[in-house]
Amino acid sequence: MSKITMANFPELPYAVEEAVNRLRININFLGNDIRKIMVVSTMPNEGKSFVAMQLWRQMAEAGTSTVLVDLDLRKSIMTEKYGITTDDGEEIKGTSFYLSHPIDLDEAICKTDMEYGDILPNVDNVINPSMLLESKRFEEMLNYMGEKYRYALFDSPPLNIVSDGERIGNLCDGAILVVRGGETPKGMVKHSLMQLERAGCPLLGVVLNRVQGGGSGYYYKKYGGSYYGGHYYGSEYYYGK
Ligand SMILES: Nc1ncnc2c1ncn2[C@@H]1O[C@H](COP(=O)(O)OP(=O)(O)OP(=O)(O)O)[C@@H](O)[C@H]1O
Ligand SMILES: [Mg+2]
Repeated sequence: MSKITMANFPELPYAVEEAVNRLRININFLGNDIRKIMVVSTMPNEGKSFVAMQLWRQMAEAGTSTVLVDLDLRKSIMTEKYGITTDDGEEIKGTSFYLSHPIDLDEAICKTDMEYGDILPNVDNVINPSMLLESKRFEEMLNYMGEKYRYALFDSPPLNIVSDGERIGNLCDGAILVVRGGETPKGMVKHSLMQLERAGCPLLGVVLNRVQGGGSGYYYKKYGGSYYGGHYYGSEYYYGK
């Protein structure tokens, strides 16, 4: 198990930090059976990876053993975006490498500066990961994660493009649906809810993310001007349907 360092981990404004904290606490209330959680959205670019990463960090910082698993096997940018490198100079194996090579999962998972936060980024993007996701090895990987850690958070591809999300959802205890405020059409969100239902994956909650106030809008007022003017957008969490 290599240890990694993240060179670019953003500091969040208080309001975003608080929104993620509320999400974390609400997930705690869901009980012991909810362990494997998919973080998903309808369309690309809604903020799944952002929410998954921040939630993972807060869970780990709170002393809850949590693993963040990058299941965006087609176009993950996690290692570049967060400046992830191993401390010993070893190459990170990553999710798709693990799924296609006979190595131990514990060898692939990386330790971090956080005692309770482990991570499995994806490094080698693949054009068609369906075979990997449909494999028994994938199912076993998810189950192992769910047993070893209190929470396993799965950063997933969007639901509208490929079937990867439904397969992942089918193996998880529930999903957090990230919705980009003011962007994602209602009908498409409804369709995502149907897809989750079809996959047998309970909806745990919805995160309304990347909310931009127009200066007089509700979110602008709620979070304040400096927040709107800053680099980060609002996130709000809705519990249940
Ligand atoms: N609440 C937020 N505040 C500020 N920036 C955000 C927020 N949520 C997401 N972003 C930024 O928006 C961009 C898209 O977010 P992210 O990569 O998390 O989306 P995604 O849903 O994982 O996209 P993809 O479908 O491509 O995987 C990123 O640059 C991310 O840092
Ligand atoms: Mg992503």
